Amino acid sequence: MIPQGFINEIQTRTDIVELISAYIPLKRSGRNFKAICPFHGEKTPSFMVSPQKQIFHCFGCGEGGGIIQFLMMHEKVSFVEAVEILAKRQGLNIPYERSDKDKIKPRLYEAVSEAMQFFQNCLLKEEAAKPVLKYLKERGIAEKTIAQFHIGYACTSNLLLGHMRKKGFSLQALEKASLVISQRSGFKDLFRERIVFPIFDIRSRPIGFGGRIWKNISGVPKYINSLENPLYSKRNQLFGLNFAKDDIIKNDAVIVVEGYLDMIIPFMRGTRNIVASSGTALTVEQIKYIRRYTSNVILVFDSDKAGEMATMRTLDLLLENELKIKVAKLPLGFDPDSFVRKKGNEAFSKALSEAQDFFDYKMGVLKKIYDVESIEGKTKIAKELLGSLQKLKSEIEKHEYIKKLSQALKVKEEILIAELRKINSTPGTRNWQPPQQLGKREPLSLTEKTLLKFMVSNQGARALIKKNVKEEDFISDLARKTFSYLSLNIERLSNRPQELLTMIEDKEISRFISSVLMDDNIPLEKEFLKGALLKMRQRRIKVFKNRLKEEIRQAEQIGDRQKLKVLISEYGKIKSEAGNG
Ligand code: UTP
Ligand code: MN
Repeated sequence: MIPQGFINEIQTRTDIVELISAYIPLKRSGRNFKAICPFHGEKTPSFMVSPQKQIFHCFGCGEGGGIIQFLMMHEKVSFVEAVEILAKRQGLNIPYERSDKDKIKPRLYEAVSEAMQFFQNCLLKEEAAKPVLKYLKERGIAEKTIAQFHIGYACTSNLLLGHMRKKGFSLQALEKASLVISQRSGFKDLFRERIVFPIFDIRSRPIGFGGRIWKNISGVPKYINSLENPLYSKRNQLFGLNFAKDDIIKNDAVIVVEGYLDMIIPFMRGTRNIVASSGTALTVEQIKYIRRYTSNVILVFDSDKAGEMATMRTLDLLLENELKIKVAKLPLGFDPDSFVRKKGNEAFSKALSEAQDFFDYKMGVLKKIYDVESIEGKTKIAKELLGSLQKLKSEIEKHEYIKKLSQALKVKEEILIAELRKINSTPGTRNWQPPQQLGKREPLSLTEKTLLKFMVSNQGARALIKKNVKEEDFISDLARKTFSYLSLNIERLSNRPQELLTMIEDKEISRFISSVLMDDNIPLEKEFLKGALLKMRQRRIKVFKNRLKEEIRQAEQIGDRQKLKVLISEYGKIKSEAGNG
């Protein structure tokens, strides 16, 4: 949407030292500037800003990037919003590039907005809507709530279609906005005889609707929602976020419920930091949205079986995204809507304050399924919980939970740690250092860091490294992931540090690269590159030699002379090729 050239220009024009020192005091320290990191609690400064590279990196929490990343984190804004702030500072207008999809968007916003007003009018004025108003009232929804959430009613078939056509909206736009659907018999209103709850984006613009039946008709779904369209996508939307945003920040916590009314009713009664996931397990997109405002999440899902499973699925995804999670339980048969109406907001607040830590919650559910005294039960429970713990980024937290798990299962900590390591060594999972090594965690090898630093900084070195080093040569998972990413993408990436960091989509990789770039123990000198390449080669040969040795040992054991001969000759070749290394 914003041309890359403009993003680069705005980064060139803004000095990172000047920008950051408008937010926090910077102190000179050699070639760089130092500060107390604004992104995590610390007493001694480990937040560095480099005027040469125009990037920042905190060696404490690992955050890093250029001015855009700094603003995104400090002002809690999106990428585009950060660029907008910077452009404004420079007095520049952003030359937005509009895709065809974007060109039609303003018209779609108008259409949904008009439809919202039309629906609301129907609910309040139409004779046919009287019983609907009565139904809503019985569910605790009166004028004030209707006004605040712009709740409406889609009366009978094709009333909206006629109205919108009169207002000059094309059939094509109406279909795109998911207000009408085309059927064999022609275009038809999507929402017919349904209560409609408008869905707003973060800027409070209506972008779609959830439509609920209000009397039971067998065979029709209780809710239908706007179909995916340029404005509305279910994965990206958290119902109520526009209303709850400020209170989420204020409370530094968000309550996540399932249904529209589970959000609306508690909100109207005073629990205002609440959003609804709209009936699905939380998506990564929704979680990323939440993270802009808080890292504390309280899940309140139905306590039925399906609700429990949805919660379990969501937990790991939240943990993986470094959110702190609690789970609140309501008495069986209640959802937040019915609970607040029957027991009041006070009782709801109390239930929330008694929310369980994710670990205790998961343990509770598992204990219901498996017998914790049996060996089989212990194994199953351990496997499930270790799977979650493995997602935690903090080693300290991991260790604390290992202790808890050990007590609950009556299994020694060491054994659980060994099991956890097993999970980690299966492909696709992250490496984990056991808690014994806390504090003196083995640093990433200098060799691996050197190669990656050269790869992002020096065009000539890139080809050389790509030719001589393989993904498998890296021991650290993160270095390997970074290498594989760089190998695939390097051609389109800038070799100017700040531009580079801005282009990398994967946060883990960009944080890692910012740490390597900022690390003055890795000078960009030819000798260092040569040394690192040699080390990698030696390492590979060593691995290969060991593997051969093992195969030779096995061949000896089973007495396979033929194979032994081949292996030994191969071993000799390797040895001479490697010299004494
Ligand atoms: P529920 O079935 O729990 O309904 O679905 P609810 O929210 O409690 O609704 P009420 O109280 O009966 O009015 C939870 C959410 O799942 C989505 C909706 O977002 C709903 O709020 N849903 C449910 C659908 O999208 N389609 C459906 O058919 C049902
Ligand atoms: Mn409900």
